[in-house]
Amino acid sequence: MRLTRGGNTIMSNMPSEIRDLVEFRLRATGDVLINGLGLGIAAQIALANADVSTVTVIAISGDVIGLVAPHIADHRLRVIQADAHNWRAPEGMRWDVVWHDIWDDICADNLSEMAKPHRRYGRRCDWQGSWCRAECERAGRLWRQSIQRLASGDSRRHSTTP
Ligand SMILES: C[S@@+](CC[C@H](N)C(=O)[O-])C[C@H]1O[C@@H](n2cnc3c(N)ncnc32)[C@H](O)[C@@H]1O
Repeated sequence: MRLTRGGNTIMSNMPSEIRDLVEFRLRATGDVLINGLGLGIAAQIALANADVSTVTVIAISGDVIGLVAPHIADHRLRVIQADAHNWRAPEGMRWDVVWHDIWDDICADNLSEMAKPHRRYGRRCDWQGSWCRAECERAGRLWRQSIQRLASGDSRRHSTTP
C-alpha cells in the first residue's frame, strides 16, 4: 500500500519502511509520542503492544488524518492536527518513547531538522528515534566524500597546470 503526492511515493508499507521501525517496536512502552501519521504503521505497531498506555500522534494534514485515523481507532490513541515543529507539548508531560517521521525522503538535509526535535524532547522522553536517521547520516558522509574527492581532483589539476 502506498500514498503518493504528485506521482511521488511519500509513504508506504514496504518491508524497508517496516524494517526501520524495528527498534521503535522494541522500545515502545507506556506513553508514546509519534510525529507524523502517514499510513499509521508506527501508531499501529505501538498499539499492538499491551504495555503501551497512550499513543499521541501529531499530524499536519487533515486529509491524511481523515483517510487514516478511522482505520486505526483505539481508546489509547489521540491524533492531534498540528505542525510537529511548533506543537507545544502539555507542561510537564513526559513520554517513554518518541518517534519522529515527518520526512518524505531519505536525505542528508533531514539531519538538521531531526536535530531540533531530538533536542526538544531529549529531556522529555526515555528514548527517541527518527525515521531512517542512519541512512541520512550515510548519505551525508557519501556527499562529503564526493565533494572532497572533487576538490582534491581540482587541486591536483591546478597543481599540475604549467
Ligand atoms: C512518511 S509519513 C510517516 C509514515 C508513518 N511513520 C507510518 O507509520 O505510516 C510522514 C507524515 O508526516 C506528516 N508531516 C509532514 N510534516 C509534518 C509536520 N511538520 N508536522 C506533523 N506532521 C507532518 C505527513 O503529512 C505524513 O503523514
